[in-house]
Amino acid sequence: MKIVGPFTQLLSMQNLPLKGSLQDEQLDIIKNAGICINADGNIEKVGDYDQLVQDYPDAKIEKLEGNKVAIPGLIDSHTHICFGGTRAMDFAMRNAGKSYMDIAREGGGIWSTVVQTRKATQEELTQGIVDRANELLALGITTVEVKSGYGLTVEEELKMLRAIKEANKRTKQNLIPTCLAAHTLPKDFEGSHAEYLKLMQEELFPVLIEENLAKRMDAFIEEEAFDEAVTIPYFQKAKEMGFDITVHADQFSTGGSEVAIKIGAVSADHLEASTQKEVELLANSDTVATALPGATLGLGCAFTPARALLDAGACVSIASDWNPGSGPQGNLLSQASIIATFQKLSNAEVFAGITSRAAYALREDKIGQLDKGFEANFAIFDTDNYQEITYQQGRLTPSAVYVKGESVLN
Ligand code: NIG
Ligand code: FE
Repeated sequence: MKIVGPFTQLLSMQNLPLKGSLQDEQLDIIKNAGICINADGNIEKVGDYDQLVQDYPDAKIEKLEGNKVAIPGLIDSHTHICFGGTRAMDFAMRNAGKSYMDIAREGGGIWSTVVQTRKATQEELTQGIVDRANELLALGITTVEVKSGYGLTVEEELKMLRAIKEANKRTKQNLIPTCLAAHTLPKDFEGSHAEYLKLMQEELFPVLIEENLAKRMDAFIEEEAFDEAVTIPYFQKAKEMGFDITVHADQFSTGGSEVAIKIGAVSADHLEASTQKEVELLANSDTVATALPGATLGLGCAFTPARALLDAGACVSIASDWNPGSGPQGNLLSQASIIATFQKLSNAEVFAGITSRAAYALREDKIGQLDKGFEANFAIFDTDNYQEITYQQGRLTPSAVYVKGESVLN
């Protein structure tokens, strides 16, 4: 047993409703707090530091000096950090007036990353993921979802997912893999969208289960990608085989979020094009609405209507969408602070979106909060006020990060 503290403030993210708008007054902020951690790296108790020291006389003490704020380890529930190459040219092309979709139609976009990712070895991909995951760890992010989707053949998708599995062993970061074989129809596939998905279903899905490579299935529902008619049977098969479903939905046009709800997806992500109709549908479902401000900043388009979603009663999570094309920046805390400015989100809504509600988007029930039974994952900031963290838009970075009770930086 060990005790870490004292913290000037500790944000437990306990006892908050899973859905709908939140006020900062609802936050459970413990002053002079300590975290008592057991040998398994789980939280035994969170409470007054002096009381914990008294109650656990045999515990080892990791005493902190100065003002410290502890928050749960952040969760990035949507990334594409397994990729080869760069898309710096897309940035220049977009700023010269070409749209994301124009670039894709002309052979750039996702396809250009597919070409570059196929050229990379599995080991090179693994190293790239480890480097990016460690960068995120230093920002206080302790769980990162990682998608495939730049392989787009059975073997190349397997290479990506095996790289993610291997990377997970080489970093303290908790990586959660998702199969995004339905990202776009690869230009070298001779057949229809339906035939491509059928091939993945028959030849890729069983290997994912056999090798324990992913438990989540994603698809990009959009004009240039896959439509409702082909994704519904694909998702149905995935569900039957035990995969959770998540969707790239309503990024440029609507339709995806309705599919997500119909199929019972755990989350619908993007939603920049969602209208009040989709907002209401999401609010009345168990599907988490995930805002991706990194894609908005990358493409210069609208923000996900997070305010409207929360007011309607939806569960809103915020993720970075770190990818080489539309969201190359990857700093979740900075992006969450920026969407807060544009969408008028309270601190409680922002922190829930990158902790407890993000955990729900991944259907992970042992992370995203600081209380008994949760993994002892937390980030420590050298400040006396948690509000400084979002106010500084990501400039204030953690002085220490703990994963399963161990300090992991340097
Ligand atoms: O979430 N929208 C589709 N997929 C990614 C972008 C992938 C890429 O451009 O490489 C996204 O924005
Ligand atoms: Fe994405």
